[in-house]
Amino acid sequence: MDKIVGSIEKISSFWKVNAIANNGGDPTFNLCFDKESPDFLEELLPFCMAEEWKNASKSIKDITLSYAWIIYNHKTIYIESDLILPVCVDIIKGLYVLDSHEQIQGIVAQAMVDEAVHTQMSINAANTVLKFRELAEPEYTHFFLTEWRNHLLSSVSTDEDKRLVALGIACASETLVTAYLEKIATAISIQRLCKEVTAAHASDELIHSGVFTLVLKNAIQHLSERERRLLLNSMYEAIAIFANKELGVWSCILSQIKFPSYKSMLMASSAKPDITVYTAGVERLLKRTGLAVK
Ligand SMILES: [Fe+2]
Ligand SMILES: [Fe+2]
Repeated sequence: MDKIVGSIEKISSFWKVNAIANNGGDPTFNLCFDKESPDFLEELLPFCMAEEWKNASKSIKDITLSYAWIIYNHKTIYIESDLILPVCVDIIKGLYVLDSHEQIQGIVAQAMVDEAVHTQMSINAANTVLKFRELAEPEYTHFFLTEWRNHLLSSVSTDEDKRLVALGIACASETLVTAYLEKIATAISIQRLCKEVTAAHASDELIHSGVFTLVLKNAIQHLSERERRLLLNSMYEAIAIFANKELGVWSCILSQIKFPSYKSMLMASSAKPDITVYTAGVERLLKRTGLAVK
């Protein structure tokens, strides 16, 4: 028990000094927009290898990259609000069986502050690009990741099991989101605002990553074998959620901007899954928490 309290105090003190929330908050307010630099990494587009993309004009490619930045930020907002925050709220309410609940409440509340700042950053970063590029509001209304989470929750019947599925998705997502952010944060070619906002988010995720590892480790101690399996499966499902290319959202945007032959471009890219990039972090988390069965 003392060991848990010691780890919690360490996480909390580190957060107080290093979190973006405690160091001036959302950096988008202090960053200039550079119209000449692209807004997103071409290599992260799900269709970057398609002939239709390679043959497209520079102007439509630039518009697509701007919307890629907007999609990325909106997806981040959905991750924070639909995948992470509901679990934080349930932890705070005491709906998970955890040791040292009072201290855990404290560090989970700190992580919630971070996620709220990240939501603010994502809204501002997306709207800055929309405004400076003079682009129309995107017309998509939802992301696959929310739908699939809802589907997974509806596949179990009790509230306890639903909370375990939600916990597995949230903990795995915390790891997955960091891998996804680092790619953009370390990109050389994109514009400063996009890079720095993402770097700020990535730094916060690393600072509070210990919160979710600690909660997971702690929660596992109180679970039956069946419940552990359910939790483990939901973490693997989270990998599938992140690997999804959100082609429905892309179809909506590419149609909106009249990208030439976008349907065949999306068709070709839908056949290729994108899961290899993300699995390593979740595997490490499973090892650290002792949840891995192998
Ligand atoms: Fe975040
Ligand atoms: Fe986070």
